[in-house]
Amino acid sequence: AFIMFAARQSFNLFQKRAFSASASQASKVAVLGAAGGIGQPLSLLLKLNPRVSELALYDIRGGPGVAADLSHINTNSTVTGYNPDAAGLRDCLKDSEIILIPAGVPRKPGMTRDDLFNTNASIVRDLAKAAAEAAPKAHVLVIANPVNSTVPIVSEVYKAKGVYDPKRLFGVTTLDVVRASRFISQVQKTDPAGEKVPVVGGHSGVTIVPLLSQSNHASISGETRDALVNRIQFGGDEVVKAKDGAGSATLSMAMAGARFAESLLRAAQGEKGVIEPTFVDSPLYKDQGIDFFASRVELGPNGVEQIHPVGQVNEYEQKLLDACLVDLKKNIQKGVDFVKANP
Ligand code: NAD
Ligand code: LMR
Repeated sequence: AFIMFAARQSFNLFQKRAFSASASQASKVAVLGAAGGIGQPLSLLLKLNPRVSELALYDIRGGPGVAADLSHINTNSTVTGYNPDAAGLRDCLKDSEIILIPAGVPRKPGMTRDDLFNTNASIVRDLAKAAAEAAPKAHVLVIANPVNSTVPIVSEVYKAKGVYDPKRLFGVTTLDVVRASRFISQVQKTDPAGEKVPVVGGHSGVTIVPLLSQSNHASISGETRDALVNRIQFGGDEVVKAKDGAGSATLSMAMAGARFAESLLRAAQGEKGVIEPTFVDSPLYKDQGIDFFASRVELGPNGVEQIHPVGQVNEYEQKLLDACLVDLKKNIQKGVDFVKANP
């Protein structure tokens, strides 16, 4: 019996080792739009992440150059840049566990994110088609704006190809919570590392709804609160104005995208309780015809594990939510309609 027990124990140990080795080895991450303002620093941060074993970079120009540069960094992952053609895109995507999409044009001063729709909708649709064919089981992380519309575009493409898994599609809204945490720490003169402000809704203007009543500073009120909420909702505009025609947030976005990818990899590799706010196919407002909504989401090996409700909000926040839902519904419908009209 002892021999049997010992044999079983060592087999279990072997299995565990085999599992953890294959879990970490399996982490191929693809970045589409890798040579852009976000794509380059995002790829750099992913190259520094020991959970990533293979980094696959695609862009309509410059992918191989960025890959050659990053490949000299002395971390274990391999880096490959792919040719800007259909075969290159397919090879880049194949076997990916995570696909990040920062491909698309950024805003200039005076533009809304929705003004990017005409250019970015077809870019995201075409990349989604390729992803649905080459790596239908990968987690897709959409960064390209307008996120409120580009995420529904990806879901429609996946539905049309019969491979849609709502648990594996994410609009990256991490930058909103990163900003909220930093901005509140500046007002309260605290360490941002300890500040967690839930931000729900979508990712543009009034669809960005910070819930200060659920932060460490629930009593913030009056003009201080109004200014803080406004800064979180329009933080993107601050960067667009400062860059003065040269684009929008890239470095802070790279950090936010890398953080989200890292959270997914941690969850995929077995860690429990990994929670990130993100824009997903959500039951929370489906009864009002709103199929996608950002809230705190627990991540697991298959992507979305549990979608947390918005929780208790005060009267002021309820008004913000009401305004959010009106815009969000239109933004989502616009993405769905686009794919129906331009499959
Ligand atoms: P950028 O112009 O610097 O880079 C975009 C890159 O995408 C370029 O290298 C371009 O060659 C590439 N590209 C264009 N079409 C492509 C295609 N079909 N396939 C592959 N690559 C393609 O722009 P950026 O500053 O990196 O911003 C990218 C997008 O991210 C914008 O839409 C921007 O609004 C958005 N963004 C989102 C967030 C967010 O919080 N979700 C934050 C910042 C920016
Ligand atoms: C942001 O929030 O910084 C991005 O969505 C880019 C933008 O257009 O503001």
